[in-house]
Amino acid sequence: MDGIPSVTVLISGRGSNLINLFNRARGYRIGAVVSNKRDAAGVAWARERAIPVTIVEREEYPSLSAFKDGVRDAVSATQPDLVALAGFMVVLPPTFIAAFQGRLVNIHPSLLPKFPGLDTHQRVIASGETQHGCTVHYVDAGVDTGAIIAQASLAVAPNDNPESLAERTLALEHELYPWVIGHLAGSEISLCNARVQYSSRVRQEAKERGFRLSNVSE
Ligand code: GRF
Repeated sequence: MDGIPSVTVLISGRGSNLINLFNRARGYRIGAVVSNKRDAAGVAWARERAIPVTIVEREEYPSLSAFKDGVRDAVSATQPDLVALAGFMVVLPPTFIAAFQGRLVNIHPSLLPKFPGLDTHQRVIASGETQHGCTVHYVDAGVDTGAIIAQASLAVAPNDNPESLAERTLALEHELYPWVIGHLAGSEISLCNARVQYSSRVRQEAKERGFRLSNVSE
């Protein structure tokens, strides 16, 4: 990576993670935003800050696969060092994942591998879980299945409901994601033979902040 690493953020909605990544950017910059929804709140926010925005909508393409190729081409055109999915509601095809292997990450509102997919907070309550949280992971061809980079967790309280859990989990997301992206940008976290590698500084900071890493014994 030459200069300050540029992150392209992919969104479909309100964009609170995008805004938070921007506000807390240390060691990286938000170079571009790609959205599959032109009326996403995050799009208006990015435009107000003169962050380049590309809209790629399904309706503009004759097929789903052509649309997904369009997303890949739009992201490639932004020449990112890193690609961060932040509430992007499109499952990306293998060609996209191959193009950004080791540089493509997602944030998910559960402690993966538990509760991949949608409605995580509701499902956590229904299952009587006592722990919940969020995960930043590399993206692979599955849905929320890539190598786990880091997790932040909270205790589910007896009076929690899906809304309260969503709010508390989002606050954790806003702590975890910029921390991970900053260390990916600084090459202190990397992917080697499908295994996540961490610098000793990252391990130390994770311990201090209460974040869980993969393959690291406590
Ligand atoms: C977040 O909960 C994120 O974990 C999930 O989608 C939501 C996006 O929220 N992937 P926002 O658009 O960043 O506010």
